[in-house]
Amino acid sequence: MADHSNKERIPGVPRYRKPKGLKIDGTEPFFPNFLLKEWIVGSVFLVAFIMWILFNPVDLEAVADPQDTSFIPVPDWYFLFLYQLLKYVPGQVVWLGTVVVPGLAVALLLLVPWIDRSKTRHPFKRLIPTGAMILSLIFMAWLTYEADEQHKHALAKNPPKPKAPAVKDTAIVAPSDPGAKIFSQSCATCHGAELKGQVGPSLLGVGNKLKPEQIEEIITKGRGAMPPGIVQGDDTKKVAEWLGKQQQK
Ligand code: HEC
Repeated sequence: MADHSNKERIPGVPRYRKPKGLKIDGTEPFFPNFLLKEWIVGSVFLVAFIMWILFNPVDLEAVADPQDTSFIPVPDWYFLFLYQLLKYVPGQVVWLGTVVVPGLAVALLLLVPWIDRSKTRHPFKRLIPTGAMILSLIFMAWLTYEADEQHKHALAKNPPKPKAPAVKDTAIVAPSDPGAKIFSQSCATCHGAELKGQVGPSLLGVGNKLKPEQIEEIITKGRGAMPPGIVQGDDTKKVAEWLGKQQQK
Protein backbone atom coordinates (compact mmCIF):
# COMPACT_ATOMS: atom_id res chain seq x y z
CA MET A 1 0.00 0.00 0.00
CA ALA A 2 1.52 3.22 -1.13
CA ASP A 3 0.66 6.42 0.57
CA HIS A 4 -0.97 6.47 4.00
CA SER A 5 -0.33 10.15 4.50
CA ASN A 6 -2.84 11.51 6.96
CA LYS A 7 -3.18 14.81 5.14
CA GLU A 8 -6.20 13.77 3.08
CA ARG A 9 -7.85 11.83 5.84
CA ILE A 10 -11.16 12.96 7.29
CA PRO A 11 -11.39 12.07 10.99
CA GLY A 12 -13.64 9.07 11.52
CA VAL A 13 -13.06 7.51 8.10
CA PRO A 14 -11.67 4.00 8.54
CA ARG A 15 -7.99 3.62 7.72
CA TYR A 16 -6.44 0.91 5.65
CA ARG A 17 -5.67 -2.25 7.53
CA LYS A 18 -2.12 -2.01 8.73
CA PRO A 19 0.10 -4.28 6.66
CA LYS A 20 2.14 -6.69 8.77
CA GLY A 21 5.48 -5.33 9.89
CA LEU A 22 4.62 -1.79 8.85
CA LYS A 23 5.27 0.60 11.67
CA ILE A 24 2.78 3.45 11.47
CA ASP A 25 0.99 4.58 14.56
CA GLY A 26 -2.67 5.34 14.70
CA THR A 27 -3.98 2.63 12.39
CA GLU A 28 -6.22 -0.22 13.39
CA PRO A 29 -7.96 -3.10 11.66
CA PHE A 30 -11.44 -2.48 10.33
CA PHE A 31 -12.58 -5.80 11.75
CA PRO A 32 -13.15 -6.21 14.60
CA ASN A 33 -11.77 -3.02 16.18
CA PHE A 34 -13.43 -0.40 14.07
CA LEU A 35 -16.71 -2.31 13.65
CA LEU A 36 -16.89 -2.94 17.38
CA LYS A 37 -16.78 0.80 18.04
CA GLU A 38 -19.48 1.34 15.45
CA TRP A 39 -21.66 -1.31 17.09
CA ILE A 40 -21.19 0.18 20.54
CA VAL A 41 -22.19 3.62 19.31
CA GLY A 42 -25.10 2.02 17.43
CA SER A 43 -26.42 0.21 20.51
CA VAL A 44 -26.08 3.29 22.71
CA PHE A 45 -28.06 5.24 20.14
CA LEU A 46 -30.69 2.51 19.89
CA VAL A 47 -31.17 2.31 23.67
CA ALA A 48 -31.33 6.11 23.92
CA PHE A 49 -33.87 6.13 21.13
CA ILE A 50 -36.03 3.47 22.83
CA MET A 51 -35.90 5.45 26.10
CA TRP A 52 -36.85 8.61 24.27
CA ILE A 53 -39.91 6.92 22.74
CA LEU A 54 -40.92 5.32 26.05
CA PHE A 55 -40.79 8.60 27.95
CA ASN A 56 -42.14 10.81 25.17
CA PRO A 57 -44.98 8.79 23.70
CA VAL A 58 -46.68 10.39 20.73
CA ASP A 59 -50.44 10.76 21.01
CA LEU A 60 -52.64 9.25 18.38
CA GLU A 61 -54.49 11.59 16.10
CA ALA A 62 -58.27 11.58 15.73
CA VAL A 63 -59.81 8.26 14.76
CA ALA A 64 -60.02 7.86 10.98
CA ASP A 65 -63.47 8.78 9.74
CA PRO A 66 -64.53 7.26 6.40
CA GLN A 67 -67.37 9.79 6.19
CA ASP A 68 -64.99 12.73 6.22
CA THR A 69 -64.26 13.55 2.59
CA SER A 70 -62.45 16.75 3.52
CA PHE A 71 -59.49 14.80 4.88
CA ILE A 72 -56.37 15.32 2.77
CA PRO A 73 -53.93 12.47 3.27
CA VAL A 74 -50.28 13.46 3.24
CA PRO A 75 -47.16 11.44 4.10
CA ASP A 76 -44.80 12.27 6.94
CA TRP A 77 -42.28 15.04 6.27
CA TYR A 78 -39.42 12.70 5.36
CA PHE A 79 -41.43 11.24 2.47
CA LEU A 80 -42.81 14.54 1.25
CA PHE A 81 -40.17 14.89 -1.47
CA LEU A 82 -41.14 11.53 -3.02
CA TYR A 83 -44.80 12.46 -2.74
CA GLN A 84 -44.13 15.80 -4.41
CA LEU A 85 -42.11 14.15 -7.18
CA LEU A 86 -45.22 12.20 -8.15
CA LYS A 87 -47.09 15.42 -8.84
CA TYR A 88 -44.75 16.18 -11.75
CA VAL A 89 -45.20 12.77 -13.35
CA PRO A 90 -48.27 12.31 -15.58
CA GLY A 91 -50.72 9.67 -14.36
CA GLN A 92 -50.18 7.16 -17.19
CA VAL A 93 -46.47 6.85 -16.38
CA VAL A 94 -46.77 7.04 -12.61
CA TRP A 95 -44.30 4.10 -12.42
CA LEU A 96 -41.63 6.54 -13.61
CA GLY A 97 -42.06 8.56 -10.43
CA THR A 98 -42.73 5.67 -8.06
CA VAL A 99 -40.16 3.12 -9.26
CA VAL A 100 -37.77 4.29 -11.97
CA VAL A 101 -36.53 7.65 -10.67
CA PRO A 102 -36.16 6.65 -6.98
CA GLY A 103 -34.78 3.26 -8.09
CA LEU A 104 -32.13 4.91 -10.26
CA ALA A 105 -31.15 7.21 -7.42
CA VAL A 106 -30.75 4.31 -4.99
CA ALA A 107 -28.87 2.24 -7.59
CA LEU A 108 -26.50 5.15 -8.20
CA LEU A 109 -25.84 5.46 -4.47
CA LEU A 110 -25.12 1.72 -4.26
CA LEU A 111 -22.74 1.93 -7.22
CA VAL A 112 -20.76 4.89 -5.88
CA PRO A 113 -17.81 2.75 -4.67
CA TRP A 114 -17.40 1.40 -8.22
CA ILE A 115 -18.08 4.63 -10.09
CA ASP A 116 -16.13 7.00 -7.88
CA ARG A 117 -12.74 5.36 -7.41
CA SER A 118 -10.74 8.45 -6.68
CA LYS A 119 -8.42 8.09 -3.68
CA THR A 120 -8.93 11.69 -2.68
CA ARG A 121 -11.19 11.95 0.34
CA HIS A 122 -11.55 15.62 1.01
CA PRO A 123 -15.04 16.81 -0.07
CA PHE A 124 -13.70 20.09 -1.52
CA LYS A 125 -11.31 18.20 -3.76
CA ARG A 126 -14.04 15.96 -5.15
CA LEU A 127 -16.17 18.43 -7.00
CA ILE A 128 -18.37 16.04 -8.98
CA PRO A 129 -19.51 13.69 -6.17
CA THR A 130 -19.83 16.51 -3.64
CA GLY A 131 -21.62 18.73 -6.14
CA ALA A 132 -24.01 15.93 -7.14
CA MET A 133 -24.84 15.23 -3.50
CA ILE A 134 -25.39 18.89 -2.66
CA LEU A 135 -27.57 19.35 -5.72
CA SER A 136 -29.70 16.31 -4.83
CA LEU A 137 -30.08 17.56 -1.28
CA ILE A 138 -31.16 20.98 -2.52
CA PHE A 139 -33.61 19.31 -4.91
CA MET A 140 -35.06 17.17 -2.10
CA ALA A 141 -35.32 20.15 0.23
CA TRP A 142 -37.08 22.13 -2.46
CA LEU A 143 -39.53 19.27 -3.18
CA THR A 144 -40.26 18.98 0.55
CA TYR A 145 -40.85 22.70 0.84
CA GLU A 146 -43.14 22.75 -2.23
CA ALA A 147 -45.15 19.78 -0.93
CA ASP A 148 -45.60 21.46 2.45
CA GLU A 149 -46.65 24.76 0.88
CA GLN A 150 -49.15 23.05 -1.43
CA HIS A 151 -50.56 21.03 1.46
CA LYS A 152 -51.02 24.18 3.55
CA HIS A 153 -52.70 25.80 0.58
CA ALA A 154 -55.06 22.82 0.12
CA LEU A 155 -55.89 22.87 3.83
CA ALA A 156 -56.66 26.58 3.72
CA LYS A 157 -58.99 26.05 0.77
CA ASN A 158 -60.66 23.06 2.36
CA PRO A 159 -60.40 23.36 6.15
CA PRO A 160 -60.80 20.10 8.09
CA LYS A 161 -64.12 19.62 9.82
CA PRO A 162 -64.15 20.46 13.51
CA LYS A 163 -63.77 17.26 15.46
CA ALA A 164 -66.88 15.65 16.92
CA PRO A 165 -66.84 15.66 20.72
CA ALA A 166 -65.25 12.53 22.12
CA VAL A 167 -67.90 9.86 22.67
CA LYS A 168 -66.71 8.94 26.14
CA ASP A 169 -67.34 12.45 27.46
CA THR A 170 -71.07 12.33 26.82
CA ALA A 171 -73.52 10.75 29.20
CA ILE A 172 -76.85 9.14 28.44
CA VAL A 173 -79.76 11.43 29.32
CA ALA A 174 -82.68 10.05 31.37
CA PRO A 175 -81.48 6.45 31.64
CA SER A 176 -84.64 5.33 33.50
CA ASP A 177 -87.07 6.67 30.88
CA PRO A 178 -89.46 3.97 29.50
CA GLY A 179 -87.91 4.63 26.07
CA ALA A 180 -84.52 3.54 27.41
CA LYS A 181 -85.91 0.08 28.18
CA ILE A 182 -87.38 -0.32 24.70
CA PHE A 183 -84.08 0.81 23.27
CA SER A 184 -82.06 -1.73 25.22
CA GLN A 185 -84.42 -4.50 24.08
CA SER A 186 -84.80 -3.61 20.40
CA CYS A 187 -82.07 -1.24 19.31
CA ALA A 188 -79.02 -1.83 21.50
CA THR A 189 -77.84 -4.83 19.48
CA CYS A 190 -76.98 -2.47 16.64
CA HIS A 191 -76.53 0.88 18.34
CA GLY A 192 -74.80 -0.35 21.48
CA ALA A 193 -76.13 -0.59 25.03
CA GLU A 194 -74.34 2.67 25.79
CA LEU A 195 -75.50 4.31 22.53
CA LYS A 196 -71.91 4.28 21.34
CA GLY A 197 -72.75 2.43 18.16
CA GLN A 198 -71.92 -1.06 16.86
CA VAL A 199 -73.33 -2.08 13.50
CA GLY A 200 -75.33 1.12 13.50
CA PRO A 201 -73.94 4.58 14.23
CA SER A 202 -73.53 6.04 17.69
CA LEU A 203 -76.73 7.72 18.85
CA LEU A 204 -75.14 9.75 21.63
CA GLY A 205 -76.30 13.30 21.15
CA VAL A 206 -78.64 12.27 18.34
CA GLY A 207 -81.18 14.73 19.77
CA ASN A 208 -79.01 17.60 18.57
CA LYS A 209 -79.43 16.43 15.04
CA LEU A 210 -82.86 14.79 14.80
CA LYS A 211 -86.27 15.65 16.24
CA PRO A 212 -88.36 12.86 17.82
CA GLU A 213 -90.67 12.92 14.77
CA GLN A 214 -87.74 12.37 12.44
CA ILE A 215 -86.50 9.49 14.61
CA GLU A 216 -89.99 7.97 14.53
CA GLU A 217 -89.89 8.14 10.77
CA ILE A 218 -86.50 6.43 10.66
CA ILE A 219 -87.87 3.67 12.90
CA THR A 220 -91.04 3.10 10.85
CA LYS A 221 -89.44 3.41 7.42
CA GLY A 222 -86.00 2.04 8.22
CA ARG A 223 -82.81 3.50 6.86
CA GLY A 224 -79.89 1.92 5.00
CA ALA A 225 -78.99 -1.29 6.82
CA MET A 226 -81.59 -0.60 9.50
CA PRO A 227 -84.79 -2.50 8.78
CA PRO A 228 -88.19 -0.74 9.08
CA GLY A 229 -90.61 -1.39 11.92
CA ILE A 230 -88.25 -2.81 14.54
CA VAL A 231 -90.68 -1.52 17.17
CA GLN A 232 -94.33 -0.70 16.62
CA GLY A 233 -97.15 1.46 17.90
CA ASP A 234 -96.65 3.33 21.12
CA ASP A 235 -93.12 2.02 21.59
CA THR A 236 -91.97 3.89 18.51
CA LYS A 237 -93.02 7.19 20.01
CA LYS A 238 -91.54 6.40 23.42
CA VAL A 239 -88.13 5.39 22.15
CA ALA A 240 -88.06 8.28 19.66
CA GLU A 241 -88.90 10.78 22.38
CA TRP A 242 -86.23 9.37 24.64
CA LEU A 243 -83.65 9.56 21.85
CA GLY A 244 -84.76 13.14 21.18
CA LYS A 245 -83.66 13.94 24.72
CA GLN A 246 -80.13 12.74 23.97
CA GLN A 247 -78.72 16.18 23.45
CA GLN A 248 -75.27 17.52 24.13
CA LYS A 249 -74.43 21.02 25.15
C1 HEC B 1 -80.19 -4.26 12.54
C2 HEC B 1 -79.47 -3.21 13.20
C3 HEC B 1 -80.23 -2.02 13.70
C4 HEC B 1 -81.25 -2.01 14.62
C5 HEC B 1 -81.86 -3.21 15.36
C6 HEC B 1 -81.59 -0.64 14.81
N1 HEC B 1 -80.84 0.17 14.01
FE1 HEC B 1 -80.95 2.18 13.88
N2 HEC B 1 -79.56 2.17 12.42
C7 HEC B 1 -78.91 1.07 11.97
C8 HEC B 1 -78.03 1.46 10.92
C9 HEC B 1 -77.07 0.54 10.14
C10 HEC B 1 -78.17 2.85 10.75
C11 HEC B 1 -77.46 3.77 9.76
C12 HEC B 1 -78.32 3.80 8.48
C13 HEC B 1 -77.74 4.68 7.42
O1 HEC B 1 -77.67 5.90 7.63
O2 HEC B 1 -77.36 4.13 6.39
C14 HEC B 1 -79.14 3.28 11.73
C15 HEC B 1 -79.57 4.59 11.90
C16 HEC B 1 -80.41 5.00 12.89
C17 HEC B 1 -80.74 6.38 13.15
C18 HEC B 1 -80.23 7.59 12.40
C19 HEC B 1 -78.93 7.99 13.05
C20 HEC B 1 -78.31 9.20 12.39
O3 HEC B 1 -77.30 9.64 12.98
O4 HEC B 1 -78.76 9.65 11.34
C21 HEC B 1 -81.60 6.39 14.22
C22 HEC B 1 -82.19 7.60 14.90
C23 HEC B 1 -81.80 5.01 14.59
N3 HEC B 1 -81.03 4.21 13.78
C24 HEC B 1 -82.60 4.62 15.65
C25 HEC B 1 -82.87 3.30 15.94
C26 HEC B 1 -83.80 2.89 16.94
C27 HEC B 1 -84.63 3.82 17.82
C28 HEC B 1 -83.80 1.54 16.95
C29 HEC B 1 -84.65 0.61 17.81
C30 HEC B 1 -86.09 0.80 17.68
C31 HEC B 1 -82.86 1.09 15.96
N4 HEC B 1 -82.29 2.18 15.38
C32 HEC B 1 -82.57 -0.22 15.69
C33 HEC B 1 -79.06 -0.24 12.40
C34 HEC B 1 -80.01 -0.64 13.31
